[in-house]
Amino acid sequence: MKLTMVGTGYVGLVTGACFAEVGNDVLCLDLDEAKIRKLESGGIPIYEPGLAEVVKRNVAAGRLRFTTDVARAVQFGTVQCIAVGTPPGEDGSADLQHVVGAARNIGRHMSEYKVVVDKSTVPVGTADKVRTAIAEELARRGVAIPFAVVSNPEFLKEGAAVEDFMRPDRVVVGSDDPQATQTMRTLYAPFQRNHERLLVMDVRSAELTKYAANAMLATRISFMNELANLAERLGADIEEVRKGIGSDPRIGYQFLYAGIGYGGSCFPKDVKALIHTAAEAGARLPVLDAVERVNAEQKRVLAAKILKRFGKLSGRRIAVWGLAFKPNTDDMREAPSRVLIEELLANGASVSAYDPIAMPAAKSAFADLKGVTYADSPLAALDGADALAVVTEWKEFRSPDFQAIRARLKTPAIFDGRNLYDPEEMKRAGLEYYPVGRAAARQHE
Ligand SMILES: NC(=O)c1ccc[n+]([C@@H]2O[C@H](COP(=O)([O-])OP(=O)(O)OC[C@H]3O[C@@H](n4cnc5c(N)ncnc54)[C@H](O)[C@@H]3O)[C@@H](O)[C@H]2O)c1
Repeated sequence: MKLTMVGTGYVGLVTGACFAEVGNDVLCLDLDEAKIRKLESGGIPIYEPGLAEVVKRNVAAGRLRFTTDVARAVQFGTVQCIAVGTPPGEDGSADLQHVVGAARNIGRHMSEYKVVVDKSTVPVGTADKVRTAIAEELARRGVAIPFAVVSNPEFLKEGAAVEDFMRPDRVVVGSDDPQATQTMRTLYAPFQRNHERLLVMDVRSAELTKYAANAMLATRISFMNELANLAERLGADIEEVRKGIGSDPRIGYQFLYAGIGYGGSCFPKDVKALIHTAAEAGARLPVLDAVERVNAEQKRVLAAKILKRFGKLSGRRIAVWGLAFKPNTDDMREAPSRVLIEELLANGASVSAYDPIAMPAAKSAFADLKGVTYADSPLAALDGADALAVVTEWKEFRSPDFQAIRARLKTPAIFDGRNLYDPEEMKRAGLEYYPVGRAAARQHE
């Protein structure tokens, strides 16, 4: 099948490359010329495990191409997947200007039947807006060309995006057009060979499903963080509680970790957008209001622990391990590290940071901040530092040399935002250890 990906970011590039991998002809469009130039010269603009190989293989096979030429891109694919960004507007609503802009471009240039697929995360009712935008452009041209609009929200996780796309848990398709539904079945058939994973539903339910999934996951995180803070007050250990409840299959172990809040390009904006959608519909979502509030507070927990330990931070240097909002990505959007680092700097500390992948992205995210330096290795970040804050649970931080850490830090203190270490081992290593929600296991504070 001939496919156009409109938007070649995390979702568009992964989706385009994976559709090419199973034999489709894919043209990826982006308005960002630098991004397309990089891809055309064999580079990959984002870090995503396994992606470079899939892109390279399919470019070499002639099945994956890149362009900034809108007219060519619209002509190319019978299926036009819109995978552009939907960032939060000032009021928290999803900003649909890129989605509607992409739809208008399709209406301006199409000359035959198209299936337009909304892959971006978009509020309920957006498919109608996309349909209207295309219809208006066709009317302006004085032509009548049939098209269908389908909702196909994307559930891939950054850091495991290729794997998730190649082996999806489910593929949600919102469609009221039998021909378009059949096209989607054909498109996704190679990704569900051992059993059917396509869930076909009405368009609005598909749009809401994506928000419901992210809101549920964000709720689990805020719930565990709230309990972690309570466990600290009560002298309990949230890690024990986690195991105690995760063993119930109705609850499950996944996504049940206490920490320093959720970040990334999706949960924060999608929770906000759903709250906004509800308000527009005259409804309130008090659970999600609280999820958001708890998360904002939780992002400050590590800085508060550091301040409490040292009193004042002026003249102190804090080493920070991990900058990306989660491991295996270079994505810095809404990363908890941003809040921590801003708080540390605001209190007079300097920061020596290390991240295995996200340092280039961090350098541009923190370009306006003074007082952040970047180290070449985790241990080098500790040189001259008063204490260590662990922010992202990259594998290489899981079993570090604790004696080397102790020898390098001026104060042997680890503030662990991800509960990576065993408090007993910390005690034996002579390290002060400040995890999240582990009063029963804690020796200090
Ligand atoms: N990143 C994720 O993990 C993830 C997962 C599931 C769903 N989503 C959703 O997918 C959508 C895209 O997210 P992303 O992280 O890939 O965003 P991104 O910012 O990485 O990529 C979006 C791309 O679209 C391009 N673009 C904007 N307007 C365009 C236009 N009119 N024509 C062509 N290109 C255009 C931008 O230049 C950019 O490169 C969002 O709605 C997001 O919520 C993201």
